[in-house]
Amino acid sequence: MSSTRSALPPPALQQPDPAALIAWYDRHRRNLPWRAPPGRRPDPYRVWLSEIMLQQTTVATVGPYFDRFVARFPGVSALAAASLDEVLNLWQGLGYYARARNLHACARTVVDRHGGRFPGDVAGLQALPGIGDYTAAAIAAIAFGRPVAAVDGNAERVMARLYAVAEPLPAAKQRLRALAAALVPAERAGDFAQALMDLGATICTPRRPRCVLCPWREACAARAAGSAESLPVSAAKPERPLRHGTVFWLTRGDGAVLLRRRPETGLLGGMIEVPSTPWRAAPWSEAEALTTAPQPDLAWRRLPGIVQHGFTHFRLDLAILAATTATPPDGIWARLDRLGDYALPTLTKKVVAHARSAGAQPAEPGDDSRA
Ligand code: ADE
Repeated sequence: MSSTRSALPPPALQQPDPAALIAWYDRHRRNLPWRAPPGRRPDPYRVWLSEIMLQQTTVATVGPYFDRFVARFPGVSALAAASLDEVLNLWQGLGYYARARNLHACARTVVDRHGGRFPGDVAGLQALPGIGDYTAAAIAAIAFGRPVAAVDGNAERVMARLYAVAEPLPAAKQRLRALAAALVPAERAGDFAQALMDLGATICTPRRPRCVLCPWREACAARAAGSAESLPVSAAKPERPLRHGTVFWLTRGDGAVLLRRRPETGLLGGMIEVPSTPWRAAPWSEAEALTTAPQPDLAWRRLPGIVQHGFTHFRLDLAILAATTATPPDGIWARLDRLGDYALPTLTKKVVAHARSAGAQPAEPGDDSRA
């Protein structure tokens, strides 16, 4: 005889109620530096700046950068009036430097073409440099209260679980966005967008979601099916290919090192780097690498170890050759104690740290200049 318990029908799922999520947000929202106090209209400049910084970067990392930016550039006009170098300098360490260039270009466009005011609709925002579909929706909802869905990775996870969507990402993106769009309330769309993000970040976490605390626990299809932790499904990512390069750590008599600026467009566009061979699939022999060195005939020596770095689409292994020159070629010569004056991407910082710890640097120049 079957037990009474197993004969009971499963409890019916409730409809997800946007108001329940917003009520949860009112009690549990994260206190983030770009958020306006409850009930206050957010400043579109701060919303835009935070959304650009949060692309590919975590909330914890962005916090101090955001504070420094708004202290230095309190509004879009101040940012537009700054030089690109100054912006890149403050951006140092956040990565994906095209974002900083677009940020600067966007500030100038807003000042030059929109009288210093951000457009308040999705299409107007999308037309600005560096603002894609998600960012336009997030700004439109959060800064202007437009009833649109801003679906980031956190919100995707919430939707995939709420509706038990088993289709893998990224193919499921459109569907998840449509499901979220159907829930956006006419009022407080910005809080709804941020509530979804916060729910994903604090309750509906990738591992060990805290379903008992979720305002949508009675509406969640994945929770009912016991599959929350296995959703969303991600399509297997192909392994990132490995590329190789050799950098040339060239110092001159006063201890300054030769640097160069990368081309304006493309990966790390306009950023400062230590000169190197091109990066390619095959490792470089020393002799082959030296054909591209700034001064191939010097007494180059291979430093121990390699510098490893991961980009979005490939991994990079760099060998380092070091030499000192008595006939310095033209270029950017930087004293090691002045490297902080340059906007250095993480990769260049890694190369500098490695070369210095591998003993490439002769004694640091005397400090007479500061005596
Ligand atoms: N991630 C992207 N935008 C965000 C926001 N406004 N609040 C919290 N996390 C976010």
